[in-house]
Amino acid sequence: MPTNLSRRSFLKTGSAGAIGGAFAMASVTAASGPGAKKSDVAAPAILGGAPVHQGGWPKWPQWEAADDPQLAEVMKRGVWSRAKLVTEFEEKWAKLIGNKHALAVVNGTNALSAAFMELDVGPGDEVIMSPYTFSASIFGILYQKAIPVFADIDPTTYQIDPEKIRAKITPRTKAILPVHICGFPSDMETIMKIAREHNLFVVEDACQAHLSSIRGRKMGSFGHAGCFSFQTSKIMPIGEGGAITTDDGNFKDRLYSYHNYGYASSIAPGTYASTIHSYRLGNKIRMAEYQAAIGLIQLQRFEAQHRTRNENGNWLRAKLAEIPGIKPIRLYDGVDSLSYYMCPFIYDAQAFQGLPRDKFVKALGAEGVSVTGGYPNDPLYTQGLLRETLASRTYRKLYPAAELDFAKYKERNHCPKLLETFQTSVWLNSTGMFLGSRQDMADIVDAVWKIQKHAERIKNA
Ligand SMILES: Cc1ncc(COP(=O)(O)O)c(C=O)c1O
Repeated sequence: MPTNLSRRSFLKTGSAGAIGGAFAMASVTAASGPGAKKSDVAAPAILGGAPVHQGGWPKWPQWEAADDPQLAEVMKRGVWSRAKLVTEFEEKWAKLIGNKHALAVVNGTNALSAAFMELDVGPGDEVIMSPYTFSASIFGILYQKAIPVFADIDPTTYQIDPEKIRAKITPRTKAILPVHICGFPSDMETIMKIAREHNLFVVEDACQAHLSSIRGRKMGSFGHAGCFSFQTSKIMPIGEGGAITTDDGNFKDRLYSYHNYGYASSIAPGTYASTIHSYRLGNKIRMAEYQAAIGLIQLQRFEAQHRTRNENGNWLRAKLAEIPGIKPIRLYDGVDSLSYYMCPFIYDAQAFQGLPRDKFVKALGAEGVSVTGGYPNDPLYTQGLLRETLASRTYRKLYPAAELDFAKYKERNHCPKLLETFQTSVWLNSTGMFLGSRQDMADIVDAVWKIQKHAERIKNA
């Protein structure tokens, strides 16, 4: 995008895909099907051969005819705003994650924003966060007029590097925001130790990490707040929806009040007595009854789907590791369950005759595998979002000019390991794909071997 575009023209021309979540990225899937030439299966599909995998993948999200009456009943009842089904969903979600409380909200973005608001993160504070994410992780910090500080990732795990967190702590640090990217757990045991040593809050962005765990303890249950998304692409899909989990009852009460106009937390939505008033700054980010109804229906199959993804994913990771040039990302000690929102691996072009990563992704897509290269080569700390926010009138009133100098901000936050990862990452879109059969998983492995075998030809085509 030309840098001289005005704000208005940017808003008109900015494409949704440019900084969207993983779900918004174009995924490369083969045009396979009944017309594909089976006899050509030995030739790479990108060069005209038949794809290794034909016939598509399990659909995502899943909805069955048998689900219809449960949802219809809620609609017919006519209680559409937050009521008993949302409470039931919250109780079940808290139990699943292993926290005392869960508050259901409209989406993951607002779950994060509410958490930063109610932890009283504010002007002058710094929040140390993973740079391997997209804008939704950062909005809440900026709404509170705090400063995001990026600590580089460990390129072998894709997660924020605890040692880099230590190096970025200052007297102004108030919180740490690990993002369990692709659903793979950050090193939460070490991060919590650092937080305790420095008296910091930890907000987990677990929006991709439902049911991922370390020694049986789920992501979202380590920090002071765990934030989840139930957007359609996620492994717990409602369409839109989110939740914040916590063990802190006072924090939960403040969150509840915040999500319901700043009313006292004892006030049930829909109560309009004349005594009700907003006694504190709030918002309105309540989950609706029909969203909770969809969530409760999804929960009936959620854990079984998760087990299937883990069986398939663990098998596939082991098989992919046997292929020269493919390195599945490393797990921290004790990781015993993965959401498999994505299944990423590190691609070494040298072992593929110099076939560039993007061509590899296209070739794998042509073989019928749903795959991308992950987030675009555009770290958050260089994006217009931060440039504009730091240059805003409010930030200029709150901070000295030197601190807001964008060139210096980018320098301070430069994350070389992240940039390296942007070039070598490959993400399998596993949400639907990993619900397939073992033969389906074998197709993915065969497709990668096939590209390995024909890498020189594909490169030169
Ligand atoms: C890492 C991460 N954080 C935050 C969000 C925001 O969640 P939502 O789309 O529900 O607002 C997402 C969703 O894509 C995400 O992947």
